Amino acid sequence: MTASGEMADPQEIHLTVNGEAASVRAHSMERLLDVLRHELGLNGAKEGCGEGECGSCAVLMNGELVNSCLIPVAQAEGAQITTIEGLANDGRLHPLQESFLACGGAQCGICTPGMILAALHLLDRCPKPTLEQIKEGLSGNLCRCTGYLQIFEAVNKVARENLAL
Ligand code: FES
Ligand code: FES
Repeated sequence: MTASGEMADPQEIHLTVNGEAASVRAHSMERLLDVLRHELGLNGAKEGCGEGECGSCAVLMNGELVNSCLIPVAQAEGAQITTIEGLANDGRLHPLQESFLACGGAQCGICTPGMILAALHLLDRCPKPTLEQIKEGLSGNLCRCTGYLQIFEAVNKVARENLAL
């Protein structure tokens, strides 16, 4: 909003999303989640709570796990963003995606993109996490379907089997 209460004009925002340069015209306070989904057509990040509580909208921004429903897009100017769409390589699923499938860690799928990005963020910093560390690493991501055990198992499987990340 301007001082007179009018909405400021949209501005050009430059991002790198999944390794590709992108620019969008958006109001500075638009949520990164909406820009990803509606402007860039990346629907992997989901809206659950819209309040920073559930992690279903999580993406990596400059390597940090963030809830994209809380990020004004202007804050992402110049940032490197990774969404779930950026994980598969040459048509092959990422090992974490394979493991979630194999272990039944994805049911309705609403939490899954955020869970997988949280797991990637964890394994990047802690390649051999204990169960407690896995629980802690995924504690910002809520799942209504699985009871979490299959999710923890999926992450544990990737860590123990030394699958390339
Ligand atoms: S939708 Fe962003 S944290 Fe729930
Ligand atoms: S699989 Fe449905 S919310 Fe997690």
